[in-house]
Amino acid sequence: MISGMSLGSREYCVRLLPKNILLAVREGESVYEAASRQQVRMPVSCRNGVCHICKGILTRGQVETSVSGLKVSVGADRVQEVLLCQTWPKSDCEINVENVYARGELPVKEVVCQVSGVKQLGGHVYEVRLSFSAGKIPEFFAGQYLSLHLPDDAEGSFFSIASAPGGREIELHIQADPHLAKALEIVEHLQQANSVKVKLPFGKACMSGSADSELILAAAGTGFAQMKSIVEDTLSRGFDKPVSLYWGVRQEKDMYLRQLADSWERDYPNFRFVPLVSEAIDDVCTRHHDQMANAICAHSHDLKHSQVFVSGSPTLVFSTLERLEEAGLKRSSFFSDVLEYTAPPEK
Ligand code: FES
Repeated sequence: MISGMSLGSREYCVRLLPKNILLAVREGESVYEAASRQQVRMPVSCRNGVCHICKGILTRGQVETSVSGLKVSVGADRVQEVLLCQTWPKSDCEINVENVYARGELPVKEVVCQVSGVKQLGGHVYEVRLSFSAGKIPEFFAGQYLSLHLPDDAEGSFFSIASAPGGREIELHIQADPHLAKALEIVEHLQQANSVKVKLPFGKACMSGSADSELILAAAGTGFAQMKSIVEDTLSRGFDKPVSLYWGVRQEKDMYLRQLADSWERDYPNFRFVPLVSEAIDDVCTRHHDQMANAICAHSHDLKHSQVFVSGSPTLVFSTLERLEEAGLKRSSFFSDVLEYTAPPEK
């Protein structure tokens, strides 16, 4: 049993095999409800024990399940089929179940799409719009990224998707400073091209289900793109918990969609926008990183029950993680693409 993780309430560890996906299931919560809360997807339809689409095999542990409307206790002392929408763990368990997808897990697809627009947003940041024909719109979750491939570029370049899932178009924000040769080449190519090849989706730092807790989003520079996707997705779905966006830039002019962020704050009472500008000439890096964590800690967030997404340099991400963990954030509630490709700094 996992104890003391949720204001003294009990939580059980449920291992979903064969993918080895771990769920923390609260006392009184069904396996399906816990999966949904933790953005793990599984096949469900009726959610009341009729269709059997959510069936699995309990191979270890004790659960309660519903039989003719009555809760009965069953264990894994023999092969035991259970319906995950009607299964309430009473101990740590293992359950074999097919067609379960971990947070952010979708098949990666390669698609040739139309370049429907390239425009300068501010500074050296360009908005690129890619459109897909009906029936070829790739599935992705808010917060994920794609790889964009110029001709003969097998490796590709990675960009956060700045738009919410579900539309015919995908929006990217590309920073093409004069010293960023590859980014400049991509923007110049897209300004001329009719189509381009992309692969998607990538990234686990995303919203692959319905969140049930406060969201804290922190971005540096064009990391704003990832947060824009999450904000537009959650607000459009009527998310009513607090959402705070911290956007750090070096200079005011780098805040290339400031008016949009201000408009979210005007239009949604649960949304707060905190712009952060660090123009100090000396030691600007340290100041920039500290400023983000300081700003988050200065506001009265319920960090024990928040989900935090951070997009920026590894130094920014790890320093923010360290500060927020000290302030009470659970490590499992911190999400950043950086965690997938960079080891934490040695102490
Ligand atoms: S979703 Fe229909 S039985 Fe579980």
